[in-house]
Amino acid sequence: MFSVNFKGRVALVTGAGQGIGKAIAQGFADCGASVAVNDINPQTAALTTGTLAGDARAYVADVGDAAAVAGMVDRVVADFGRLDFLINNAGIEPKVSILDMAADDWRRVLEVNLSAAFYASQAAGRVMRAAGAGVIINIASIAGHNIPLKDRAAYVASKAGMVGFTRECAREFAAYGIRVNAVCPGVIETEMTAHSRANPDQMAKWLEDIPAKRLGIPEDVVGLVLFLCSDAARYLTGQAINVDGGKVML
Ligand SMILES: NC(=O)c1ccc[n+]([C@@H]2O[C@H](COP(=O)([O-])OP(=O)(O)OC[C@H]3O[C@@H](n4cnc5c(N)ncnc54)[C@H](O)[C@@H]3O)[C@@H](O)[C@H]2O)c1
Repeated sequence: MFSVNFKGRVALVTGAGQGIGKAIAQGFADCGASVAVNDINPQTAALTTGTLAGDARAYVADVGDAAAVAGMVDRVVADFGRLDFLINNAGIEPKVSILDMAADDWRRVLEVNLSAAFYASQAAGRVMRAAGAGVIINIASIAGHNIPLKDRAAYVASKAGMVGFTRECAREFAAYGIRVNAVCPGVIETEMTAHSRANPDQMAKWLEDIPAKRLGIPEDVVGLVLFLCSDAARYLTGQAINVDGGKVML
């Protein structure tokens, strides 16, 4: 596993109650960072926090709620005294066709998967600007490259939007010493893909399409996130990097 010394640094990871966010929180803790564990689910937020070595605290908030996100960032800074890394990871992926999707459900996906990154980046960006440094990572998706995904129109739109937001955020925030990049996972073994993974036809198609000949696991995403947050990536900003076993090559 990629390792870097983040002792004395503070990372806020959204949607860290399970899956990719939980693995990222673990990765930061293993590197010595203090970790603010966000989730909308209080039980899983507490469970993740309990597994982390070092200073870790749970922050239960809906990332789709602008006021809740601003309040959370204020509390993290009050509790830890600083905020070095923001990982916008929380996401939802309802499966429904465009013709059947309710407008409220469309809006909810955009709120949680896209607007949340704006809310948190604005709040954290103000803190990081004052400090003159910081790193923001947006967990997008290979779907963020406008790749269609059956019955996931809102998801694809939100992830493509996140890649666009990442680039403009990187441009605006560069003046303040803040780097912003998107990480685009392929198919990762989490709750989000559990239903599709139970389908043998879908599994066979994925394994045919993925040159690495396996699905990813949450830990496969962690090294890239830690690298992008490290000083080794100090000249790297505004990028959207796939971690997908070669499924999509752009
Ligand atoms: N699993 C994959 O194959 C895959 C592929 C590409 C991108 N991603 C992205 O990675 C991120 C993590 O996905 P995952 O696979 O770990 O999913 P997951 O469903 O296992 O975990 C998502 C977490 O986000 C939390 N969450 C949901 N809505 C929230 C809200 N409004 N506020 C706060 N927390 C909320 C959930 O409670 C859950 O703990 C998502 O943004 C997802 O779109 C996943």
